[in-house]
Amino acid sequence: MKIVVCNTYDELSQYIADRVASLVNEKPECILGLATGSTPVGAYEKLGEMCKAGKVDFSKVRSFNLDEYLGLTPDNDQSYRYFMNKNLFEKINIDINNTRVPSGISEDPDKMCKEYDEAIDAAGGIDLQLLGIGENGHIAFNEPASQLYSGTHVTDLTESTIKANSRFFEKIEDVPTQAVTMGIGSIMKAKSIIIAANGANKKAAVDVLRSGMIDTNCPASVLNAHRDVTLVVCGC
Ligand code: F6R
Repeated sequence: MKIVVCNTYDELSQYIADRVASLVNEKPECILGLATGSTPVGAYEKLGEMCKAGKVDFSKVRSFNLDEYLGLTPDNDQSYRYFMNKNLFEKINIDINNTRVPSGISEDPDKMCKEYDEAIDAAGGIDLQLLGIGENGHIAFNEPASQLYSGTHVTDLTESTIKANSRFFEKIEDVPTQAVTMGIGSIMKAKSIIIAANGANKKAAVDVLRSGMIDTNCPASVLNAHRDVTLVVCGC
């Protein structure tokens, strides 16, 4: 695993934005795997600026997001679809029809999950997957457990994740308790992965990842079995 240590959040954001932009410039029809959360916001901001300055063209790019809260409609301002539109898609020249976020309101979530993985495969697979990391070591919403799902699936969120994510909601009771998430196998199929961690609260999880071991109680550590992972850290 390649490790990039950044001194500031701005540096971390610039690193991610540059990696995405150079892939898009090299392969205009690439498939991006995208994350929500606080960590990638700075990189998305920078990609918006780079696109506006004509340094990168997203018109042929397709994207798949990692996850979505179960029960939230796309127009709910806490949904991950809403987050992506606001923080990235409205700032770049991507065709919104080429962006996919798992549905949180599907009548048949299992079927939707299967079709989501099939759509990624049919698109040729994800070229570059961006990941954040939970304080508990989760990636997407693959929570610590003795067994991890391979494909996209519906999952219960742990207390720790609900608590961590409650900062975005008015009150903790408003945080959905379930989500749809790409599985570990869906993520591991990506050709290249960047996992970013910003802040001392991520240190324990990052330490497991850096140890080189694979421990399902720190789902991010499965990335130690992937050939092309970059861990970008700041303050942890
Ligand atoms: C988001 C996601 C989550 C976050 C993780 C870190 O799509 O899948 O796994 O990446 O919870 O969140 P932040 O960046 O808010 O610390």
